[in-house]
This record gives sequence, structure tokens and C-alpha cells, in this order.
Amino acid sequence: MRPPIDSGTVLITGASSGIGREIARQLARRARTIVLVARRVERMEELREELHARNPTLGVVVERCDLSHPEEVDSLLDSLHRHLVQVDVLVNNAGLGDYSLYEEESWSRIHQMLQVNVTAPVLLAHRLLRRMVERGRGGILNISSGGARVFVPGLAVYTGTKRFLDGFTEALRLELLGTGVVVTQVAPGPVETEFSEVAGTQEQQERAPSWLRISAAQCASEALEGFERAVPLVYPGFAYRWMMRLSSLVPRPVMRAGGLVAARKLRHDTSLLEPGHPDARLGERLLLAGGPDGH
Ligand SMILES: NC(=O)c1ccc[n+]([C@@H]2O[C@H](COP(=O)([O-])OP(=O)(O)OC[C@H]3O[C@@H](n4cnc5c(N)ncnc54)[C@H](OP(=O)(O)O)[C@@H]3O)[C@@H](O)[C@H]2O)c1
Repeated sequence: MRPPIDSGTVLITGASSGIGREIARQLARRARTIVLVARRVERMEELREELHARNPTLGVVVERCDLSHPEEVDSLLDSLHRHLVQVDVLVNNAGLGDYSLYEEESWSRIHQMLQVNVTAPVLLAHRLLRRMVERGRGGILNISSGGARVFVPGLAVYTGTKRFLDGFTEALRLELLGTGVVVTQVAPGPVETEFSEVAGTQEQQERAPSWLRISAAQCASEALEGFERAVPLVYPGFAYRWMMRLSSLVPRPVMRAGGLVAARKLRHDTSLLEPGHPDARLGERLLLAGGPDGH
């Protein structure tokens, strides 16, 4: 079973940059219509020109929508309905993070992350899925994050939202088996996009070894390739894929210990690494072997 990308209508959130823009580029010669959704309209208008240059017969709909406002998501769907645009494939790609101690984070930023990373994909899927099931064809591609599978101090809300998306997508996929609707989750590692600039994680991104980092184009291409094979979970990038597969064998206490270096840095609290600390016990040798900064 394959998602109806060819000659279908594909709605992509977060299409103004990064992975979403690359997914649009890679589908330009295949889809009938692509609906681009984000806040930065100029970027999407530029992309529309580029997509038309690739495929003059492609229909491109640009929809400005702030996904942190559910009423704007409703208006977007109403507008598509009015214009008789029937979505065959939904790509829930838009997302943002914010690197901060949780108590220092503003509620408006936390709320924005919850709305964009959780409410919007769930609402879009809810509004579009029934028709897909009725037609016996459709697809949902959810972009979560490898960060959901580890413990990342400073990104508590972000990783929490991506964990939600993980559980949601896996359960939804099982519910939809046999209906003709394909559901795939993509959990990228470090991808070169604007994400780290928005989230304030440039330092972490730069520290990630170059063999682990991939381009947005590679991420999009592996995401689509997995989606077409109805793979439940895609880890894009060869090295990262193996790292994630092996990390599933790591016991939870060691995962906690792995987060201690980052927690210490964030809180400027060296006592978090002291051997007697409950979370340090199992991982202390591993961490302290890397030196006081954990490098
Ligand atoms: N890059 C990585 O290392 C990485 C790793 C793991 C997972 N991911 C996930 O990959 C997905 C794509 O991110 P990216 O790396 O391509 O980052 P990006 O370049 O920053 O793109 C994020 C996209 O989300 C859109 N967006 C953000 N807030 C929005 C809002 N309120 N309303 C509508 N659209 C909004 C942005 O559009 P506007 O600003 O124009 O609205 C932009 O198009 C995200 O879900 C992210 O969590 C990325």
C-alpha cells in the first residue's frame, strides 16, 4: 500500500523553510496540487515560483496560517473546503523548539510549542482523516524528532511534544491498518535547517559530529522513501539510524545519566555530576571519563 502522492493533493505544514520546503520540492513533479502552509507568505510565494518552474502543470496553493491558533487552522480547512481542495496526503511537519530551563520559559512560548507541535497536527489529522478513510486512500506523514527518544534538559516541552506525536502516530497507524490510509513517522536527528536558530540550540547543533548531521534534502528524501513503503518509523541518515536503533537497547537510568552533562551546564550546578547523585550513579564513569565539561 502506498500513499496517494502521485497526482494527489498534498498539504505540507511548515513549507516556508527546512524539511517542509524540501518535501515540497521533491514532490513537485509528482503531485497534482501542493498546499503550502506556514506564516511567511513571501517565502512560500518564492517557493511557488520555483515549484512551477519544475512543473508548470502543478497546482500550488499558498495558505498563510499561524498554526499556534486553532481557529486559523479551522479557517485554513474551511478555505480549502470552499475551493474544493480535497487533501489526499497530510504532512505534519511544522514545529519549533525553545532551549531554556522550564521555569524560565515564558508561558506564551510554551503554549506556542504545544499548539504548533501537538494541537495543530492532531486537529489537521482529525479534520482530514474521515474523508481519507471514506475514500479508502490517504496518507499522513508526521515529523517528530529523535529528541523524543532521549532525555534532553533544556528542551523538556519540545521533547514532550514530540513524544506525544510518537505515541499518537504509532496508535493511529495501527487503527488505520487496512483502511488504505498510510501513516508514517519520521524522527530526524540533527538536520541543517533554521530549526536550531529558532530554538536557540545552535551550540548543540554545531557540537553534533558532522557524520551525524544531514541536509534537509536528504531528510526529505528518506522521509518520502519510507512513507512510500509505509514504514512506521523513519530515522533519516545512515549513522543516525544505527545510533537510534542501538539506543533503544540503552537502559533508562543510563539515558538519564546521559542527560546530566547538559543539565549541569544549563543549571550551572556541578553537584549534578557528583558520584553520590542518584541519577549519576550508573552513568558517572561514562560521564566523568569525558572530562568536567563532558566533551
Ligand atoms: N532540524 C532538525 O535538526 C530537526 C531535528 C528533529 C526534528 N525536527 C523537526 O522537523 C520539523 C521541521 O523543522 P525544520 O528543521 O525544517 O525547521 P525550520 O527550518 O525552522 O522550519 C520550521 C517550519 O515550521 C513553521 N512554523 C513554525 N511555527 C509555525 C506557526 N506558528 N505556524 C505555522 N508554521 C509554523 C515555519 O514556518 P513560518 O516560520 O514561516 O511560520 C517553518 O516553515 C519540525 O517539526 C522539527 O521539530 C527538526
